Amino acid sequence: AVEKTFVMVKPDGVQRGLVGEIIGRFERKGLKLVNAKLLQVPETLAQSHYAEHKERPFFGELVTFITSSPVFAMVLEGDSAISVARNMMGKTNPVESAPGTIRGDYGLTIGMNIIHGSDSAESAAREIELWFSNETIAYDKAVD
Ligand code: CMP
Repeated sequence: AVEKTFVMVKPDGVQRGLVGEIIGRFERKGLKLVNAKLLQVPETLAQSHYAEHKERPFFGELVTFITSSPVFAMVLEGDSAISVARNMMGKTNPVESAPGTIRGDYGLTIGMNIIHGSDSAESAAREIELWFSNETIAYDKAVD
């Protein structure tokens, strides 16, 4: 089924100039970029986004990192977009990610693992609403 998923290039990926490369990989795969923005993440948004990790020892570090410099947030659409994007990213820990995946090719540490992608249909719906509410899907609007 056609799905939408939320994907974010984290501060390390933006600082390293990997945004174009990452968008290109998804586009060449056939996923459609339907919304995107570069933004400095407010602390409240970071805390909401990572709410499920609130009790983890690394939560503070995670919020500090994600708010440290701009991220590139996007919505991708396509058949099985959620799992396809996750597979292209590789495992959360870049050390365990296969070559050919984004983290496998460009990452080495779990904290600065370049990219985030929704892990389920529920997460995708929640994250798209959280990051892109009050904004219509740009592509849909342009073609309709
Ligand atoms: P992400 O997919 O964005 O979702 C939660 C994030 O927590 C994860 O990517 C990692 O970047 C981060 N994370 C997971 N485990 C650790 C850890 N042990 N130390 C620091 N960050 C972590």
